[in-house]
Amino acid sequence: MLFHKSVRATSALFGFLFLLMTVVQAQTAKLPNVTILATGGTIAGTGATSTTTVGYTAATVGVQALIQAVPEITKVANITGEQVFQIASENMGNEHWLQLAKRVNVLLAQPNVDGIVVTHGTDTLEETAYFLNLVVKSKKPVVMVGSMRPSTALSADGPINLYNAVSLAGSQAAIGKGVLVAMNDQIHAARDVTKSNTTTADTFRAAELGMIGYIQGGKPFFYREVTRKHTVDTEFDIAKLDALPQVDVAYAYANVGAVAVNALVAAGAKGLVHAGVGNGSLPAKTKPALVAAREKGVVIVRSSRVGQGIVARNGEANDDQLDFVVADTLSPQKARILLMLALTRTSNTKDIQRMFYTY
Ligand code: SIN
Repeated sequence: MLFHKSVRATSALFGFLFLLMTVVQAQTAKLPNVTILATGGTIAGTGATSTTTVGYTAATVGVQALIQAVPEITKVANITGEQVFQIASENMGNEHWLQLAKRVNVLLAQPNVDGIVVTHGTDTLEETAYFLNLVVKSKKPVVMVGSMRPSTALSADGPINLYNAVSLAGSQAAIGKGVLVAMNDQIHAARDVTKSNTTTADTFRAAELGMIGYIQGGKPFFYREVTRKHTVDTEFDIAKLDALPQVDVAYAYANVGAVAVNALVAAGAKGLVHAGVGNGSLPAKTKPALVAAREKGVVIVRSSRVGQGIVARNGEANDDQLDFVVADTLSPQKARILLMLALTRTSNTKDIQRMFYTY
């Protein structure tokens, strides 16, 4: 009798455990699959003390430690992590971008990957975001994230930023919006966002054009659409590229001359972005060097160091006559990226100008 009762109790317990496992498995299966690609930066940084928020070492914590530090992310997605490289983002090079973009494209082509989070230093995060925005061949979410305080700091912003980024990368609402930046509870579009403050946590801004949404309670709320073409709608394909054309930026300022332009051309630049003052104006001492560079076949893009606004075609210079291209609203550093990719397709300046008005 006693034996029968204990057999019944044991089988009831097994039945309950089986049901529980089935429910847990079903819930896990419902979660999106998000891969975290770690590249370094302050989000993977460590300082000597909890109050060290400057003068710390970036890019020291590995991807598995990053994931373990925020166990909450496993509640919103099935997580896998890969260390793509481990660098401070001031050392980001074209070769890193090609490696990262190829890996993103391979992963997103797999049906069991729903979204990607790229952890990255904040210094060049906006550039990597725009590069990926132009070369990723998928509508699935790609979310860039970093932090302004190292992982060891009081009120480190990395954990909440990572949690938000994973939630965003796994969300249906983020599909088809291009590469997004999740920082400080805000969602930014890759094309418009820039780092605007050297050290504060609210540094990422798209000053006049604005952020496109918020993340609250682990959920994205979108308020604006991305209008410029990106990802699957671009003409750029990096799958077979091992290098990008050399394109550099020449910065303008009062009393600027031709030294930088001439040196960059002599060093082999195929394209030059003039980071002009105001509306991309051409200083009298710089203009002849830019004209000579164009005559040698170097493609010149007039941009502005101001940070906001359209550089008007045929405004401060006769671009039609000079055969120059204007950067539209792109910052000099982002104009450099688009010009590099444009030069992988064509050296026709009319076509390149079309690209600057398209992307
Ligand atoms: C870096 O960009 O790698 C260092 C700075 C940062 O991540 O905030």
